[in-house]
Amino acid sequence: MNTLTRVDRLIVTRIERPTTRVCEIHLQAADGGELPAFAPGSNLQINAGGKWNAYSLTGLGVRPREYVISVLRQGTGSSWLHEHLGIGTSVEVAGPENAFAPDLRARRVLLVAGGIGVTPILSYARAARFWGWEAEAIYSHSAAEGAYADELRELTDGALIEVEHRDQLTAAMTDRFQNQPLGTSAYACGPEGMIDLFTSVAVAQGWPTQRLHSERFSAAELDPGDPFDFRVAGDDTLHHVPAGTSLLDRLIELGHDVPYMCRQGVCGRCLISVEGGAVTHRDFVLDERERAANDCMISCVSRGSGDGLEVVV
Ligand SMILES: Cc1cc2nc3c(=O)[nH]c(=O)nc-3n(C[C@H](O)[C@H](O)[C@H](O)COP(=O)(O)OP(=O)(O)OC[C@H]3O[C@@H](n4cnc5c(N)ncnc54)[C@H](O)[C@@H]3O)c2cc1C
Ligand code: FES
Repeated sequence: MNTLTRVDRLIVTRIERPTTRVCEIHLQAADGGELPAFAPGSNLQINAGGKWNAYSLTGLGVRPREYVISVLRQGTGSSWLHEHLGIGTSVEVAGPENAFAPDLRARRVLLVAGGIGVTPILSYARAARFWGWEAEAIYSHSAAEGAYADELRELTDGALIEVEHRDQLTAAMTDRFQNQPLGTSAYACGPEGMIDLFTSVAVAQGWPTQRLHSERFSAAELDPGDPFDFRVAGDDTLHHVPAGTSLLDRLIELGHDVPYMCRQGVCGRCLISVEGGAVTHRDFVLDERERAANDCMISCVSRGSGDGLEVVV
């Protein structure tokens, strides 16, 4: 079995275009051998013309011989992938990583996808079929952009509701959340407004938040936050972080090698350990339990609260 190191090279073996704005890219090791396994919800990072972007793996992660990603044409990196990749192109990748992992106790899943957020949901539907979990899905998309709707319908044995407008989405979610047996876990990926709706509808139906899992590909810009001071464990020097500067940027400025990617609190790459002090969490990665443990933080968006923050890098 190949071991995909932190950064490695894979070869483009096939490209499909499920819609005019989405490009499906198949990647294999140069020797065609098995790649590291991955759980549904995992993403692969890819060097898109000098910009590292994450893309969800859409396939089944059991003994994979290829990784498949689907890229919506949006800005710099995704456009570069659309324009520069062809069969045989070698690309630099890292991962897989997972900030949207399954709750392995669940035997039934409710899947909700919005737009290109269908990509990790597709991997969940494949895992459900493979592991024998019962699955149903709601997919919100515009008429022209329903990539993988047929596949989702097949993987859920027809239990797919497609919607186009927000009121239809609200109605479908309300109905499906009301009618799930105890023990179902729900997974959503899509635009920010859809994830907020997913959470509020579920909570209004009495769903415990531990059963709700979501991932967003981007987040709205945050306010500059309050200034704070921090120490790095093992060093008494007090460092200042002004409003509008992130802890991540300050750590990099001080010469620490902290990995990062999205800088929006959605990918989880810039997670660091916390030894002491209070944190104002502003990310979309850590759940309530992880926040309550007060032993880690997402350094690109979260901030110290008061002056006693001590971090490990
Ligand atoms: C965990 C994770 C998984 C992801 N999975 C997927 C996936 O499966 N598929 C997928 O397609 N994406 C996915 N993404 C998003 C992806 O990583 C990139 O963020 C996305 O492709 C946009 O990056 P970009 O370099 O193309 O755009 P950037 O250049 O970073 O631009 C970001 C945004 O700015 C705007 N913008 C940029 N340039 C212009 C311009 N010239 N005019 C107008 N607006 C502009 C666009 O709205 C764009 O969306 C994922 C992200 C994360 C964190
Ligand atoms: S860099 Fe993505 S969460 Fe911080």
